[in-house]
Amino acid sequence: MLKKGTLLKMSELVKYTRDGNVAIVTIENPPVNALSPGVPEGILEGIEKAGADREVGAIVVIGGGRTFIAGADIKEFGKITAGTRPRLTLYPALLKIEDSKKPVVMAIHGTAFGGGLEVAMAGHYRVAVASAQVGQPEVKLGIIPGAGGTQRLPRLAGVAKAVEMCAFGEPVDAKTALACGILDKIIDGDLLQGAVKFAREVTGKLAYKTRERGEKLHDAGRNETVFAVAREHARRTKRGQTAPLAAIEAVEVATRGSFLDGCDREQSLFQECLFSTQSKALIHAFFGERMVAKIPDIPKDTKTYDIKKAAVIGAGTMGGGIAMNYANAGIPVIIKETTQEALDKGFAIIKKNYQNSVNKGKLSPETMQLRLDKVTLGLTYGGFEQADIIVEAVFEGMALKKQIFSEIDKIAKPECILASNTSTLDIDEIASATKRPQMVIGHHFFSPANVMKLLEIVRGKATSKEVIATSMGLAKKLNKVGVLAGNCRGFIGNRMIHCYGREAQFLVEEGATVEQVDTALYDFGLAMGPLAMGDLAGLDVGWRIRKEFKHLEKPGVRVPLVADQLCEMGRYGQKTGAGWYKYDQNRTPSGDPVVTALIEKLARGAGIERRTISNDEIVDRTIYALVNEGARILEEGIALRAVDIDIVYLNGYGFPVWRGGPMFYADTVGLTNVLKKIQEFEKRHGELWAPAPLLKKLAEQGKTFASFDAT
Ligand code: 3HC
Ligand code: NAI
Repeated sequence: MLKKGTLLKMSELVKYTRDGNVAIVTIENPPVNALSPGVPEGILEGIEKAGADREVGAIVVIGGGRTFIAGADIKEFGKITAGTRPRLTLYPALLKIEDSKKPVVMAIHGTAFGGGLEVAMAGHYRVAVASAQVGQPEVKLGIIPGAGGTQRLPRLAGVAKAVEMCAFGEPVDAKTALACGILDKIIDGDLLQGAVKFAREVTGKLAYKTRERGEKLHDAGRNETVFAVAREHARRTKRGQTAPLAAIEAVEVATRGSFLDGCDREQSLFQECLFSTQSKALIHAFFGERMVAKIPDIPKDTKTYDIKKAAVIGAGTMGGGIAMNYANAGIPVIIKETTQEALDKGFAIIKKNYQNSVNKGKLSPETMQLRLDKVTLGLTYGGFEQADIIVEAVFEGMALKKQIFSEIDKIAKPECILASNTSTLDIDEIASATKRPQMVIGHHFFSPANVMKLLEIVRGKATSKEVIATSMGLAKKLNKVGVLAGNCRGFIGNRMIHCYGREAQFLVEEGATVEQVDTALYDFGLAMGPLAMGDLAGLDVGWRIRKEFKHLEKPGVRVPLVADQLCEMGRYGQKTGAGWYKYDQNRTPSGDPVVTALIEKLARGAGIERRTISNDEIVDRTIYALVNEGARILEEGIALRAVDIDIVYLNGYGFPVWRGGPMFYADTVGLTNVLKKIQEFEKRHGELWAPAPLLKKLAEQGKTFASFDAT
């Protein structure tokens, strides 16, 4: 008999050991045990080896390191669609694993996601530690489960749960997985020991194949409602995306025919999705979110500061939300204001935001209290001397910001990071008000700051690497996606949005209606149109910025006419009940003839020819304005990579993730086509449309922004 832990030679990626009469197949493909080539084969080889070994009665499959299996190797998908590797081999391997005559116990910790859950479901039993999660997140990559997941999951968990998991991609915890039948047992203590014990208990017993179970599939009346509700929900919450609907279809087939018929349909839907542009865009976004954390000149081992206490200046729209992020992360935060009234107002909004989460069942009242307890309020800088980071969020004005920075420079401890939430101003000039420009950085949150995922981290010319590395790590701690930007007016996001908003306004001046502009871009997939977004953010924010930069306007270059006039009329958007739209008490917008008349008057006064404008022109003018400015930003090194720009737009501006971001979208249209349009716009509208040199160069060379990133 083999001794406990004896290692038999197998693939590098999968190890085979024995503990008495239980074979242990361990996947060793760090960091997340993805099913890279060799892994499915290795698992199967282990099962077959155990099958052939007369001394083995049962088999445990377990993940080495931090997790079970995080799914198929996503890097392989690009190779499949490029034709450089054949289809995935997982599906047939799972049929063979399931055919094992000896019971296979899947032992789960960390995550069993995608192909990982599909592997687990091909076992005869599943046990897990309480902290484990299981899920079919494929739709987040624009695909559906492709190794029988849509067919096995409804057999284990029931149709409603399977539809929810496959179509919406959210994982479930071990407790839920146990309750709905995905798991057979939760193991307290050591997973491997518990799984081996479990395997001994089931040795010699009849092993159920998931694919032969049918008892949860056939409640025709109920299923019909489940599918109808799921489709409606997918159309609403995953607007424009094809994979969720494909996933629902695949589960529906499971309820109508045999397992193999279902797998056939699943396979063809999987292939269709995999080759779609949507899937390529979503995979680009998945790797992009991880890529932005990598900064070429800042090594992983750069020293970071410990952020244990924070302070925020200003309790307005942004300051309150920023403070909530710290409180949510368990970091005590002081907020300073100028008046008790402003402080009370800011704190009341924080409380209301938390209360809303409690009312929706997203937060317990106890957690709300714990978070509120992390927030202290003040009218002076008292307590700031202990802060590890101070975030300034006062009005957008250079003089005020410099005054604040010179004040905090005198109070803050030497290793305290001084961050500004400015949305446009020069970080170097702000830093010049201090004696420690190396500690000054931009932390540009997006409104509402407690909700939006993006944190633009703006590097000044003196900002130290330690401060940047700390900020990138802090973003993660605050549950944000941190993207590093260079210092220029508006950084990445707002510099580009300025061009987009400009075109949206020009379009209404030229004859499109406010509603048409917003609807065209909403239909393109944006969370909301640009003019409605302006009303939500507050038109006065841009107005204030334009005043700050008025001196930089070039004579003779066209500027939008309407927004400033709306502000002069006190129409700041939703907060004043009127902006581009008028709003009722429930903030429902409706078109306003006053605005139409104003637009017509201003256009006439400026001699702008009014004409019929197509929705295609609206999309091209606004989105290509983003792309053209994005190309300049890239060439100047303000963004490290095109994908960084995409991640900014996906996480901060409601750009549809299934289009991959503006730069990826331009690649899918083809840069030559984009350039051609931009050159047409230049002929018609003048110098604002001069093509960015990088765009021109890449288009002429037949290249893409992705190829630029790869160099
Ligand atoms: N394939 C390839 N690489 C993967 C991967 C995967 N499935 N999952 C994670 N990685 C990589 C990441 O890119 C990252 O690489 P990097 O260090 O070079 O940047 C590294 O593994 C660590 O990942 P994270 O930084 O995301 O680590 P976390 O601990 O924060 O999160 C996780 C771990 C929850 C597993 C998260 O990585 C995740 O959600 N991964 C994707 C899971 C997924 O979508 N699975 C389904 C794949 S499709 C499929 O299975 C099809 C099947 O039905 C046939
Ligand atoms: P706001 O007007 O809502 O709040 C600013 C607050 O700062 C006010 O409550 C004011 O009383 C307070 N304040 C002014 N001087 C102060 C001082 N000396 N000490 C303490 N508090 C002081 O402004 P908002 O919108 O929160 O903007 C703040 C900053 O965030 C600006 O730089 C803005 O550009 C930036 N920003 C704004 C976004 C938005 O959508 N509103 C988005 C991202 C950044």
